[in-house]
Amino acid sequence: MKYKNNKNVNEVTTDKVLIFDTTLRDGEQSPGCSMNLEEKLRIAETLQTLGVDIIEAGFAIASNGDFESIKKISDTLDGPIICSLSRAAHKDIDRSAEALRYAKRKRIHTFLSTSPLHMKYKLQMEPEDVLNMVIDSVSYARNKVEDVEWSPEDGSRTEHDFLCRCVEAAITAGATTINIPDTVGYAIPEEFGSLIKMIKNRVPNIDKAIISVHCHNDLGLAVANSLESLKEGARQIECTINGIGERAGNTSLEEVVMAIKTRKDLLPYSTNINTEVITRSSRLLSTITGFSVQPNKAIVGANAFAHESGIHQDGMLKHAGTYEIMTPESVGLNKSTLVMGKHSGRHAFKAKLNELGYEVSDNQLNDAFHRFKDLSDKKKDMFDDDIIALVDDGISDSGDFVKLNSLSLTCGSNGPAVAKLSLTIFDTVEEIEINGDGPVDAVFKGISSLVEGSYNLQLFAVNAVTEGTDAQAEVTVRLMEDGRSVNGQAADTDTMVAAARAYISALNKLIVKREKKSLLSQTIIK
Ligand code: KIV
Ligand code: ZN
Repeated sequence: MKYKNNKNVNEVTTDKVLIFDTTLRDGEQSPGCSMNLEEKLRIAETLQTLGVDIIEAGFAIASNGDFESIKKISDTLDGPIICSLSRAAHKDIDRSAEALRYAKRKRIHTFLSTSPLHMKYKLQMEPEDVLNMVIDSVSYARNKVEDVEWSPEDGSRTEHDFLCRCVEAAITAGATTINIPDTVGYAIPEEFGSLIKMIKNRVPNIDKAIISVHCHNDLGLAVANSLESLKEGARQIECTINGIGERAGNTSLEEVVMAIKTRKDLLPYSTNINTEVITRSSRLLSTITGFSVQPNKAIVGANAFAHESGIHQDGMLKHAGTYEIMTPESVGLNKSTLVMGKHSGRHAFKAKLNELGYEVSDNQLNDAFHRFKDLSDKKKDMFDDDIIALVDDGISDSGDFVKLNSLSLTCGSNGPAVAKLSLTIFDTVEEIEINGDGPVDAVFKGISSLVEGSYNLQLFAVNAVTEGTDAQAEVTVRLMEDGRSVNGQAADTDTMVAAARAYISALNKLIVKREKKSLLSQTIIK
């Protein structure tokens, strides 16, 4: 059957755009971005504070880790809709429904490829069989939950008549959101907008569903494509913090949200996002994943609000609007203020943590306050960012099997670097003195000679938390073992101590993974 252009475009009745965050699903699929359960929960809690409408928490059938984190996030959060991805198979949908069981608000997102290329080579199925599978999977999901999203994978390269038939059938079968993905990031804004318009015009029951878009950034057009689709009636945007995701990533949440906020004149829409939480969300994600943000990245890059040239600085002093289209405060980037010093008390410290958005238990407060006092002995000026690094550092470990007791180093231009390390490994103190090709090599070699395993270093990243030579260094280390990668983070005014602690933090996470595989007995001291 051919679809005719016989339907009026539905009038857009609302200007609210739903933000569907897929940092924990599509974002986590990007190489090196995998997170453990505790890390995913911290991101999910931050996304809730950020005000996203839907959190795609994972792909329940993909692994036990995904299943458990969707379950934990469902059990813990009580604001956003929690969503799990499923292929068009009953076993996938069952697993999603099980993981979402205790979610206060839940959604199953099921998808199937519809483009000629994907149907022929990937699915090896005829279009009519694909259509039947869409109907079957959506109906099955709808029997499990009320809120079902359906996506035609590679939608932007799907033949229009077939796309319309599938969308109509999915809505008839019970889909409440129809998501159109530009899976390979191939679309151009005008073309993508026309695709949404075509669907709005030609699918008779489209008014029964919300149209969503899911754009990849292979040509750097994900944000532009998403914005263009709003003009044609899309009212949900799928996106990720810092734009992470498969290959070149997804639509960046902060860019799309701030474009809507800043250009109300041309984009008369609104979102539920608390934009002041953007910077914090971006930093937390980069700390956890070790994926640093490029300095010139829009909204969250280190230079996004920096004015270097004399002409710009002069203009800024006369009127901020000369070179600033949005304020740093609107994305939560406050001028790093001097906050506290070594004489600050526990109450002031707790009040500061609350102001920075942290709610900590008494034990966490005691621990953080203790480390704050240690740090204030070493560092004269304490800034908000120092406190954030200190708290994030303290709650990022997922085990205490290996601990750093002490580290001393000799290095410089006159010979090999020598690291002297003392570690406690499963309650046994072990010491080593070892040469290396520079201090980092010596420290990492020392630790890996004491803690057995076939892990190797994938990433070592250092970031200064604030300015000045006494700034804390925030270090991220990624280790890989048996195809599984973990990140460890630590912050300290001494870069090498931070590096050693970050390496040990990653090791502790690996040991947890080994423990889960019942290999703990093989984790022995060499
Ligand atoms: O890019 C894509 O097509 C996807 C779907 C699962 C929505 O991620
Ligand atoms: Zn995707």
